[in-house]
Amino acid sequence: MFYITSSAIIGITAVPVQIETHVAFGMPHFKIVGLPDMTVKESRDRIRAAIKQSGFLFPRGRITVNLAPADIRKQGPLYDLPAALSILAATGQITYSSLNDSIVLGELALNGEVRPVPAALSATVMAKREGISNIYVPEKNIQEAVAVQGVNVFAITSLTQIVDHLNGVALIEPTVTKPRKSRTTYNTDFKHIKGQELAKRGIEIAASGGHNILLSGPPGTGKTLLARSLPSILPELSHNEAVEVTTIASVAGTLIGGHGLIRERPFRTPHHSASAVSLVGGGSWPKPGEVSLAHRGVLFLDELPEFSRHVLEHLRQPLEDGFVTISRATGTVRFPARFLLAASMNPCPCGYLSDPFRTCECTHGNIRRYQKKISGPLLDRFDLIIDVPRLESNKLLTDELSETSSVIRERVTKARKTQSDRFKQSDLLTNSEIPQSQLDNLCLLTQEAKQLVELALNQHKLTPRGYARVRKVARTIADLEGSTTIEINHVAEALQFRQQSTQERT
Ligand SMILES: Nc1ncnc2c1ncn2[C@@H]1O[C@H](COP(=O)(O)OP(=O)(O)O)[C@@H](O)[C@H]1O
Ligand SMILES: [Mg+2]
Repeated sequence: MFYITSSAIIGITAVPVQIETHVAFGMPHFKIVGLPDMTVKESRDRIRAAIKQSGFLFPRGRITVNLAPADIRKQGPLYDLPAALSILAATGQITYSSLNDSIVLGELALNGEVRPVPAALSATVMAKREGISNIYVPEKNIQEAVAVQGVNVFAITSLTQIVDHLNGVALIEPTVTKPRKSRTTYNTDFKHIKGQELAKRGIEIAASGGHNILLSGPPGTGKTLLARSLPSILPELSHNEAVEVTTIASVAGTLIGGHGLIRERPFRTPHHSASAVSLVGGGSWPKPGEVSLAHRGVLFLDELPEFSRHVLEHLRQPLEDGFVTISRATGTVRFPARFLLAASMNPCPCGYLSDPFRTCECTHGNIRRYQKKISGPLLDRFDLIIDVPRLESNKLLTDELSETSSVIRERVTKARKTQSDRFKQSDLLTNSEIPQSQLDNLCLLTQEAKQLVELALNQHKLTPRGYARVRKVARTIADLEGSTTIEINHVAEALQFRQQSTQERT
């Protein structure tokens, strides 16, 4: 028996699915087997209507369409088109051989038009991996698919069009357009943010090494503004990173609408009412959550203590591992989740605890309760805790522009280049990803620097986990300076960005 190849998604990876059709004599009956979920069942009606409306013959008798292998759960309408072609092939209306060495995906409208589907990029990556030469994708998915080099991509608009192509009536040429490049413009630029040099420095270090940052200070001091400006100093995505980011968006279904490869780093800002599932992913059909949509970019949690503590605790695993694991009866899926966590908070419920010009009205108990909403282990995962104080009026009123984002971005890009050269042999990209086992050879401190750390540890200003983080941040500060060794001044600056937390929480 012959079959047509399509794809199924496990996590963000596509695997081949074989579709075969058997037509037998008997009472009219149309069945799709092979663990299909509800959406696949609905596709029966679309397939029948599309075949008839396109002027082809829908066979009488008992039709069985089988999606194999049966142990992979299949979801979504992407099997409409390959299943329709399989029926047409089983009834001699097209020849199977024309679909050798090809992958087909697409949703059918009742009139036979082909509609876009999620995860077309993953399917094209699979084609390349499996050495399959051709892929037929809905025209609206073409920008995703052409991002993969070395696979012939055919843009399909309707059932009739692909049948005419397969029968040699009217051939479609593979699409050769260069992937569209979107130019990134940022609404926020550091040049418009007055003063706050310390916060800006902290953000530059965070952007360079991929470190997590917490901005803390009274209301209205520019915390949200600073965090929103972060994307403007991040380096462009490399091609590999762009494929990863686009694949996740494609699987999550946020890409439909003719978008090509995503070029700008993600900046995700979930609301504080977000559920654990929307944040880390899940559902009966596991979908990537915000942490995965923020992969290779920034996850910004504004007003961190407003988030439910229970929801925040789910962040700990992805923050540590760089991926999310979701277990289901049908198996385990893993979504990448390597992101920079940025968060903002007021030091107390009224916000003015650290403000020298306004008295805080909160009771001691209220302040404790507020700060306890963020657990110690989560707080420990912020590499830099940055104080954002109220700006002096003369700094705010100055007409002078600050340093532009593009100048800062150049320094960040250079520091990242230093890191990628250092990590050439591994799949690490930034200092924040250095595993414990490699700290000793990658983040060696000078003797003087060690003594400073010892002092901080002895004074309980630093926890053991904090020490690992300080070393990584110090590595980034040294990289920004172009220094191969980690000197005492690098460690001192790294320590300075951690100490506020201990002060505030006592
Ligand atoms: N350093 C600054 N430079 C210029 N404008 C600022 C600065 N800090 C605050 N602002 C102004 O105040 C507004 C409120 O800042 P925001 O970032 O929302 O404060 P926060 O998040 O700390 O409460 C900003 O939109 C901006 O107009
Ligand atoms: Mg704010």
